[in-house]
Amino acid sequence: MIDKQCYIHTVPDFEIHKKNLISKIFKIPKNPYKMTPRGDTLSHTDWDLPEKMEREYKDYFINNIFQAYAKNFCNNFKNGSVKLTGLWFQVYGLNDSHEPHTHPGCHFTNVFFLQLPDKDLKTQIQLPGDEKLDINVTEGDILTFPAFYWHRSPINKSGKEKIIISFNIDII
Ligand SMILES: [Fe+2]
Repeated sequence: MIDKQCYIHTVPDFEIHKKNLISKIFKIPKNPYKMTPRGDTLSHTDWDLPEKMEREYKDYFINNIFQAYAKNFCNNFKNGSVKLTGLWFQVYGLNDSHEPHTHPGCHFTNVFFLQLPDKDLKTQIQLPGDEKLDINVTEGDILTFPAFYWHRSPINKSGKEKIIISFNIDII
């Protein structure tokens, strides 16, 4: 689905992939993370772990989800191909959040909603000029938007973990 300012890909067979991906994400020893400068926290992420570390979830994601996503993306936008330029997961526990940020140095960024306990916890995007983008995403969707758009994740007060996979792509 193409919204005005973003692209949404609904992952087929999501429930199976959700179970497999979450179990692989938690095979990695718990790695909480505190951001600068505002001090926002994540309960678990591989963002700052060594690039060479084995990531079963990453291989699974590329083989079972990314390839189909990239094909659909290219068909929709009539592009030759896309290149994955970065991928990591983020687990938001109680009171975790992600301050407003952009993803410099790439064309598009993506959020794959693996576990979204509350609709209000979806990514909030601010368009250039301050307008907020109202996006209709649900668990199992991959949200794609220009990497220079400011976006944030609100404080998780839901009592259940929000889990996402974030990845960047370039059109080549
Ligand atoms: Fe982001």
